[in-house]
Amino acid sequence: MTDGKLRVLIPSEKIQARIRELGEQISRDYPNGNLTMICILKGASFFMADLARAMTRDVFIDFMGISSYGKGKSTSGEVRVTKDLDISLEGADVLIVEDIVDSGVTLNYLMHLLDQRRPRSIRIAALLDKPDRRLRPVHVNYVGFQIPDEFVVGYGLDYAERYRNLDSICVLEDSGVAVAAPA
Ligand code: IMP
Ligand code: MG
Repeated sequence: MTDGKLRVLIPSEKIQARIRELGEQISRDYPNGNLTMICILKGASFFMADLARAMTRDVFIDFMGISSYGKGKSTSGEVRVTKDLDISLEGADVLIVEDIVDSGVTLNYLMHLLDQRRPRSIRIAALLDKPDRRLRPVHVNYVGFQIPDEFVVGYGLDYAERYRNLDSICVLEDSGVAVAAPA
């Protein structure tokens, strides 16, 4: 990890404390019914693991692979399912678990896709939200932290598949790669 400088934006303890709050809040909001948490791979995998354990009720979990980014810092505007769910969503309360909402392209697409599978309800939990960057409308029901328009890595988030295993959320500075304008 030599190219690019990392500045801690949200330390690990703050992430964990916020996720405990979210787990309690979401559990209260779903007192009964089948709740299926869908992790959007790979970035949300750390958030999913901690959020699921912060829930005070039983949940189903499943994983979905979506590709919209390539190796750069900005969305290509193109969304593709690379791994579909294993379980049916019919009649289930669905909670999409995402690492970050940026342009909103990914979640806007996903909401439409999953809605066709006849769930009882769909909500979104995102650890991070960059509201300044929105291109498509997305209603995020549960947000961990709103952050400014800076490229972040760690706690699941990557830059070209690196830095996912950092336990804090960090801003990647001086990486030598310009932040491209959204497509
Ligand atoms: P959107 O479709 O533009 O909202 O992009 C959502 C996806 O882009 C996220 O799931 C992340 O994988 C990726 N992404 C957006 N912003 C960042 C960032 O600051 N760091 C790392 N990945 C990001
Ligand atoms: Mg992602």
